[in-house]
Amino acid sequence: MKKVVIITSSLRDNSNSNALAERFMEGAKESGNAVEIVSLKTNRIAPCLGCNYCQIHGCCVMKDKLNEILDKVIDSDVLVFASPTYFYSISGTLKNFIDRTYAKFTKIKNKDFYYIGSCSDDSKEAIDRCVNTVKGFLDCLDSVNLKGIVYGISLTDVFDAKYSNSYNEAYEMGKNI
Ligand SMILES: Cc1cc2nc3c(=O)[nH]c(=O)nc-3n(C[C@H](O)[C@H](O)[C@H](O)COP(=O)(O)O)c2cc1C
Repeated sequence: MKKVVIITSSLRDNSNSNALAERFMEGAKESGNAVEIVSLKTNRIAPCLGCNYCQIHGCCVMKDKLNEILDKVIDSDVLVFASPTYFYSISGTLKNFIDRTYAKFTKIKNKDFYYIGSCSDDSKEAIDRCVNTVKGFLDCLDSVNLKGIVYGISLTDVFDAKYSNSYNEAYEMGKNI
């Protein structure tokens, strides 16, 4: 049994990337893993201040849910990010979260990593561009390896994900972590 933490970052109701994340969770639970979705919609994370307080004190100066979420991430075996594509990059919400990991990023290690993306574009390249941004983060971590990408392409309106190939792909990827 692996501990899986999925960070979702779309702020809209009935979001495509959130639906794919839930489908990934269903697959991962089906094969006996312990899965938790942490929504950045319900756990709002402020942008990093760049104040370096965390580099001296080991935790962030801001008192939001960040420290609690980070502890879950550190404790996981599998980390998953889910994001819509905004101007061919990840959502600002997810980027804010990544920046805030500065408080404890050296403790995020030895994990498998998966990325779940949604976009209107019909090309996988749109999602790969987002993954490239995330790779900058992964490169700063110790032994956190990209194992899979869910390509939620051609998804524009809410609920589109449920009628796409990626819905099944998310389930199968979750099942095979
Ligand atoms: C601000 C904004 C920027 C977007 N930029 C892109 C883009 O660059 N490329 C693209 O294919 N889709 C783009 N989209 C469409 C979304 O990525 C798409 O609707 C996606 O399925 C939304 O995911 P969500 O339902 O999880 O929020 C954009 C949407 C918004 C609101």
